[in-house]
Amino acid sequence: MKIERMQVSDLKEVMEIEKASFKMPWKRAYFVYDMNRAQAYCMVARGNNRVLGYLIGWKVDDKLHIANIAVQPDERRKGIGGKLLKTILEIGKEIKCKGIFLEVRVSNRIAQNFYRKFGFVHTFTQKQYYHDGEEALILEKEL
Ligand SMILES: CC(C)(COP(=O)(O)OP(=O)(O)OC[C@H]1O[C@@H](n2cnc3c(N)ncnc32)[C@H](O)[C@@H]1OP(=O)(O)O)[C@@H](O)C(=O)NCCC(=O)NCCS
Repeated sequence: MKIERMQVSDLKEVMEIEKASFKMPWKRAYFVYDMNRAQAYCMVARGNNRVLGYLIGWKVDDKLHIANIAVQPDERRKGIGGKLLKTILEIGKEIKCKGIFLEVRVSNRIAQNFYRKFGFVHTFTQKQYYHDGEEALILEKEL
């Protein structure tokens, strides 16, 4: 499995994973927009010529924001998400970011476990963050 820069040709598979993973999936255009933005890091995990997962990170001032991460449902719990996350942590250090943060649904216990394993801590709760009214936990890690 390799981590590579996301290509337009990956978007069909990315969108399938996105729709299978989220209640309110990103539109294809959001990925295209980020792929053309210097402040956005768009990567895929690839194996056997398939997209196994992806991560989008945004540089915001001196921090990195994980805007999106998902792994193909039948490929989860095999270390793919961890490899994507470690890659963005390395990039964050290289580009001298001081920290990294993200929002996660209060109901998404799997993702919370995932981030905790990599040293993220809960710093803040944002009420009514999602369009359906659910709260977001803000998780952060120093770099
Ligand atoms: C969150 C997600 C990206 C994790 O990807 P993954 O490839 O399955 O993660 P990894 O295999 O690298 O798991 C690393 C660690 O995370 C935790 N973890 C992952 N899945 C878990 C699960 N189902 N239950 C409990 N802990 C879990 C474990 O600590 C795991 O380490 P371990 O397997 O040694 O116990 C994946 O579950 C996913 O795509 N979820 C749907 C989309 C999503 O919720 N994205 C995050 C939005 S904020």
